[in-house]
Amino acid sequence: MNVILGVTFFILGSLAVYIFQKKRFKKMKEEDFVVEVVQKAFLREKFSDHNEHNLVRALLKSDSFIKDLSLTAKFKGMIVGYILFTKVKVGEETLLALAPLAVLPRFQKKGVGKSLVEKGHKVAKDLGYKGIVVLGHAEYYKKFGYEPASKWNIKFPLEIADENFMAIELYPGALENINGTVEYPVEFGIN
Ligand SMILES: CC(C)(COP(=O)(O)OP(=O)(O)OC[C@H]1O[C@@H](n2cnc3c(N)ncnc32)[C@H](O)[C@@H]1OP(=O)(O)O)[C@@H](O)C(=O)NCCC(=O)NCCS
Repeated sequence: MNVILGVTFFILGSLAVYIFQKKRFKKMKEEDFVVEVVQKAFLREKFSDHNEHNLVRALLKSDSFIKDLSLTAKFKGMIVGYILFTKVKVGEETLLALAPLAVLPRFQKKGVGKSLVEKGHKVAKDLGYKGIVVLGHAEYYKKFGYEPASKWNIKFPLEIADENFMAIELYPGALENINGTVEYPVEFGIN
């Protein structure tokens, strides 16, 4: 008898959760899914302030936002990864900052991040941008050709480890003659 009651409660409970989730998903916009993916991706990251999802919300509304450079990766219609490149200034030049890149934990190490970075680079190049800066895992971004930004004398506004602030040229020589401290959009709260 107890077993039957237990199973019945379990089924009813699961059904209630399913209906609740379905209703919740229906009300959510693409932006909400993106924000959720970013929050979940950074949840267990040691070097995170766990505020990246709020940064995304703010950047989506900012002047530095470029719609074509806000890219999602989907699996069976569900957003599982996200990458954003926003405009930054270095002297008179407008470059891009890659931030954030996020992949849902259970979809990591399957090439999702790689495909987002490569797609982003292609779109950025097609749009005529010269280069991208990123603050992040040196070992990861090295794989895509990023090098310490100090190579071009491009500086992060705060004191950080040289190897973690990187840049990439979108075509050979593109960053020649571009140097100085990066001016991030105010939403980053850095400058
Ligand atoms: C970092 C992150 C975006 C990587 O995404 P991913 O989809 O797991 O990465 P991929 O599967 O495309 O990996 C591409 C390559 O990088 C390697 N890699 C993956 N995560 C790595 C990491 N944290 N450090 C170094 N290398 C890494 C993979 O092994 C793979 O190597 P290979 O091409 O030689 O096989 C993802 O782990 C994530 O969302 N982490 C939490 C948020 C975060 O840290 N974002 C980045 C902030 S800088």
